[in-house]
Amino acid sequence: MRIFLDTADVNEVRKRVDTGLISGITTNPTLILRSGRKPRDVYRELNDLDYITDVSMEVTASTALQMYNMGIELSDTFEHATIKLPCTEEGLKACNMLNNEKVRTNVTLIFSPAQAILASLAGARYISPFVGRLNDNSVDGLQLIKDLHELYLPCCQILAASIRDVPSVSKAFANGADVCTLPPAVFDKMYEHVLTDTGLAQFNKDDAQTL
Ligand code: E4P
Repeated sequence: MRIFLDTADVNEVRKRVDTGLISGITTNPTLILRSGRKPRDVYRELNDLDYITDVSMEVTASTALQMYNMGIELSDTFEHATIKLPCTEEGLKACNMLNNEKVRTNVTLIFSPAQAILASLAGARYISPFVGRLNDNSVDGLQLIKDLHELYLPCCQILAASIRDVPSVSKAFANGADVCTLPPAVFDKMYEHVLTDTGLAQFNKDDAQTL
C-alpha cells in the first residue's frame, strides 16, 4: 500500500515529503502546464527529493518509436523515472519495447478491464485507472478498481488515479489498489477527523491541569 502525490508543483511536494508517507509522484502534461515550468526542470527536482523513489513522467509523442526513444532518454537521465504511456495501440507497443529494456512503465488513461488486460500483457509495471473521470461520466470508478483487482493481472500494480476525495482513497485500497495517487489537498484531508481534534483538545486541557 503506497501513496503518491499527483502534482507537478515541486513546492507542494516539498511541503509534505518530510512526512515520509509519500513515496512517489505522478505528473501529466496538464499538471506540467499548470506548474508554468519546463518538464525536465520539474522532473529533476522531483527526482532528487528525499523519500521519493518513483516519478511518473508522461511521453507525448504519437508513434511507438518516438515514445520509446523519449522513454529511454528520460529513464537514462532520471534515476527514479517511471515512463507514463497512454493506453493506445502505439502506447502499448512502446510499453512492450520499454519493458524489454527493463524500463519501469505506467500505462495511463485506463477506463476498462479490457484496456488493463492489454496493458498488463504489454508489461506495464503500473496500470492507472481514472476513478474520478469515470464518476464524472456516471460510471462507478471504484468498481473498476475492484474489477481490475479480480483479474489478478500478473506483475502489474493498480495505481488508482483521478482521486478527488478522501473516502475514495480508503475504498480504492479496499477494492485492491496497490497505490493511490492524490492531489496534495486530498492527502492533507486524510489526517482530519473532528473527533481527533476535540479529543486532543481535551487531552491537552487535562494535561495542563495534571500535577
Ligand atoms: C494520474 O496519473 C493523473 O495524473 C491524474 O490522476 C488525473 O486526475 P484528474 O482526472 O483529476 O485530472
